[in-house]
Amino acid sequence: MTESLRPDSVIDDAATVTGIVKAAMAGTQNPRLKEIVDALVEHGHAFLKHVRLTDAEFEQGLAFVRAVGQACNDRHNEVVLLADVLGFSTLVALMNNADASTRTPGALLGPFYRGGSPEYENGESIACEDSPGAPLFVHARVLDTSGRPVADATVDVWQASPVGLYENQDESQPEHNLRGRFRTGADGALSFRSVRPAGYPVPTDGPVGALLAAQQRHPYRPAHLHFAIFAEGHATLVSQVFADDSEHLDTDVVFGVNRRLIGQFEQHAAGTGPHEDQRDAYYTLDFDFILAEGTPTYPTPPIQ
Ligand code: BEZ
Ligand code: FE
Repeated sequence: MTESLRPDSVIDDAATVTGIVKAAMAGTQNPRLKEIVDALVEHGHAFLKHVRLTDAEFEQGLAFVRAVGQACNDRHNEVVLLADVLGFSTLVALMNNADASTRTPGALLGPFYRGGSPEYENGESIACEDSPGAPLFVHARVLDTSGRPVADATVDVWQASPVGLYENQDESQPEHNLRGRFRTGADGALSFRSVRPAGYPVPTDGPVGALLAAQQRHPYRPAHLHFAIFAEGHATLVSQVFADDSEHLDTDVVFGVNRRLIGQFEQHAAGTGPHEDQRDAYYTLDFDFILAEGTPTYPTPPIQ
């Protein structure tokens, strides 16, 4: 019986496992899938050897992955959260923005992007009536790398409330509050009214929260707005703009802050500035996004 076994398919010791597993996968038809899973096995095995994982630790790790999966539902995505706190999402976003010296850097999508946001005309508000918080007027331009306006771009915007909660986390906000979809005009501009978002802790009631606690890391993100910009002939830009006066700019728990993504949230006293009809103090944000040429892609929303 043992004589019929091919010598290169028998696992004699830890040193033979990696080669035999890779040989078993050699028939993978899709070359990119083959490249990715081969590298996953190679680096994964090297990692297990590097830390000399014990049986108990392996069980603990598998239980952690199971708990991450079980914490997911239509309204919460713990898998994305784990990728974010480990810096995976930021690394992928940066690798895919190799020419970020000419275009606006990308930033992670995060777990709170939803499809189906309401469509608004420029100048409209994405905050429901009576939304508490300081008014914020955003004026943005979408430009190409030569500085020409990109007309008719679709721009998805989403943000947390002034207490740091996305509407899907907060029963006091109506569905799709602080989310909207705009189109740029011939001048590449879009504008909307909102309320100033606060920084917030990422969800900590699941296994990722336990990991952060074990690492003695705070769970906070600085205040920011999310943008996803889609335009014919251009690579999609998924990014964020951070408030220049926010706490935690230099210790974002998900490593999203890039110097070029810090926007000036300019404060104006009531009755002054470009919206002098305002009866409360308010903020303005002006920001230019620069898109690279390319083909638009459409991220899958992590929640519904
Ligand atoms: C966000 O910015 O929406 C986000 C990103 C990563 C983890 C949690 C939230
Ligand atoms: Fe966010």
